[in-house]
Amino acid sequence: MPDSIQRAIDVLKAGGLVGMPTETVYGLAADASNVSAINKIFSSKGRPSGHPLIVHIAQPDIGLSNDQQAMSNAWREILSQWSRDVSPEALILAQAFWPGPLTMILPKAKNVLLEVTGGQETVGIRCPKHPVAQNLLKEFGGGLAAPSANRFGRISPTTAEHVREEFPGDEVLVLDGGPCDVGIESTIVDLTRLDTHGAVILRPGAITQAMIDGVVGKTEFTKQNTSASAPRVSGSLSAHYAPKTKLVLYDAKDAESVLAQVNNSDLENVAWVHFAKDLSAKDLGLKNVAKEVLLPLESNAVGRELYALLRHLDALNVNCIFFEQLPDGVEWDAIRDRLGRASVGSGM
Ligand code: TXA
Ligand code: MG
Repeated sequence: MPDSIQRAIDVLKAGGLVGMPTETVYGLAADASNVSAINKIFSSKGRPSGHPLIVHIAQPDIGLSNDQQAMSNAWREILSQWSRDVSPEALILAQAFWPGPLTMILPKAKNVLLEVTGGQETVGIRCPKHPVAQNLLKEFGGGLAAPSANRFGRISPTTAEHVREEFPGDEVLVLDGGPCDVGIESTIVDLTRLDTHGAVILRPGAITQAMIDGVVGKTEFTKQNTSASAPRVSGSLSAHYAPKTKLVLYDAKDAESVLAQVNNSDLENVAWVHFAKDLSAKDLGLKNVAKEVLLPLESNAVGRELYALLRHLDALNVNCIFFEQLPDGVEWDAIRDRLGRASVGSGM
């Protein structure tokens, strides 16, 4: 076992916190069976205690075999440690998308701490794909509760350096697993109301509704969750993932009026982000642009870079970030969701 993993295990066993790389974003991990370790997550993040945490688990010991029945049995055995009612749908989704960027909400097993679930009878479970996370989970031998490793309401970290920025003291041991490949948080699918609602997506992510419907086959039931009795998801607060700098989303067709506003305002320096090549600040005659960014029309690349870009722009201390609306299309939905929330919560 690498020294860094051994040190992380020692910290976790002693009830401490570890910055854990995953393929989505870095997590702030603690032993899911240790109440005081869980409490440390909430106090370090400044997160309200009613907000549930995702439990991360290792993939089955048998590796990923082609024997579908053996895999299904292996997932059932693992999930039964966390959920009192493992539905066939949960097993199908585990086989299709784990390890990977999908979190399932399931009825919790008795032993799962209410501190982890925010007092609810359901638990969020995810098997991450990142090799460092898998190695850590396997060697640790239990579940790791981990929210994104950022202060409450702020931008999720996608590099080890970001985690160190969020938690500068020595209270968190950070494992460096390089930049995250997906870059935005996992899809959360609620499987606790299958009979009445089907598989309900609570937070969009890299695993899309169509991908889930494709394997579970309940398209007619799957719909965006709007009911008042829905489980709490802090990532669904309208202001979340936010930079400190004001972030304004603009439509390409309104670029001229934004231009007039900026040039006639007392904004001394702005950041200008766009997809359309003909929206270059120079061609538009936009003044006071401290930083211009041309993004590729490729959703995976933008998802991977988005949070690092927002952090970078935030650190420039510009007066305002102008960000062109994302292109249409479902492949942009998860990023659109995060950027919209970042805009609502920005400038505070
Ligand atoms: O990609 C991810 O999911 C990352 C990495 C580290 O795994 N984790 C993450 O955790 O984004 P966090 O805590 O920042 O966001 C998890 C969301 C929260 O909004 C929480 O409310 C929701 O999942 N959640 C967790 N357990 C839940 C439950 N039992 N019912 C409903 N929502 C739940
Ligand atoms: Mg978060």
